[in-house]
Amino acid sequence: MTNITLQGLTPAQLMTLGDAALKAGDLAIARGFYKNLMRIAPYAPHVHARYGLTLRPHNRVLPMLEAMKALEAIPNASVYIGEGIATWLKNPAFVADAKFMALAEEDLAIAPAGVVNWHWNLQTMLWAAQQAKHVPGDYVELGVYKGHTTQFLSRYLDFAAWDKRWWLYDTFEGIPQDQLDRGREHLTAAAYGEAFTFEEVRDRFASSPNITVIKGRVPEVFKETCPDQISLIHIDLNNSSAEVAALDVLYDRLSPGGIIVFDDFGWATSSAQAKAETDWFQRRDLALFPLPTGQAVFVKPAD
Ligand SMILES: C[S@@+](CC[C@H](N)C(=O)[O-])C[C@H]1O[C@@H](n2cnc3c(N)ncnc32)[C@H](O)[C@@H]1O
Repeated sequence: MTNITLQGLTPAQLMTLGDAALKAGDLAIARGFYKNLMRIAPYAPHVHARYGLTLRPHNRVLPMLEAMKALEAIPNASVYIGEGIATWLKNPAFVADAKFMALAEEDLAIAPAGVVNWHWNLQTMLWAAQQAKHVPGDYVELGVYKGHTTQFLSRYLDFAAWDKRWWLYDTFEGIPQDQLDRGREHLTAAAYGEAFTFEEVRDRFASSPNITVIKGRVPEVFKETCPDQISLIHIDLNNSSAEVAALDVLYDRLSPGGIIVFDDFGWATSSAQAKAETDWFQRRDLALFPLPTGQAVFVKPAD
């Protein structure tokens, strides 16, 4: 595709051609049309959402495109669609943040399978990491896979220059068999996508001296390595027993004002986690805030 071919096409024509290519399964051609459209309409959520759908083969691309088109019947709809979330009549802030969009695109290559247009979820984590910056204590991620979320955040925030550490825990072998929630037995290590190893992730963060990657099983691994004071915990273990066991160990180390983000709470597949975690907080007369992204957030009150 050359610029000469596209010269003179209206935005509507570029979108029609992009949509046709996307429907035909030609992601590269669709990406070319949408990229040209982005030059004309750089802050249009519906263009960024379409462009994002071309970045990875994904079995929900067509229903997601159709859902966007249906919502675009609403005047000034400003539609955005991501994995498991559609918004309209909204202005997602990330669309106007060129650095955010560029890093999200670059880091998609190391995201778990099924992740596409993950911007709302990344934005939650970015808010949490920015907000917890001045709360005493380190950052912790439980469930790392290839390091997608921390890679995005640490690059966006230039975390290597911060006076904090980030501790990343994973078995690097998937969920231990005895921790699999009922109905989620298919979640073997292979279910996350490509093979992943401790060495690969350790090397990914080698240039950040304040990020430590730890191979081990949660919660037992905390007996070997565990920060004394914590200001942010990202919990993404995809199983309720390990996530609740982690709360048992780490909650007392979380500073007042510290934040916990659960990656899997409101997803239709995460009901065991949502129940176990809701019960855990209710027993302490505390409450989680569930987000439409499928995440839930918690801010620890003052003592
Ligand atoms: C969805 S992936 C994490 C994705 C990651 N947060 C990201 O940003 O791409 C879930 C990870 O949890 C890990 N995991 C599950 N149970 C675990 C446990 N008990 N201890 C350590 N890691 C565990 C799996 O090996 C897998 O890599």
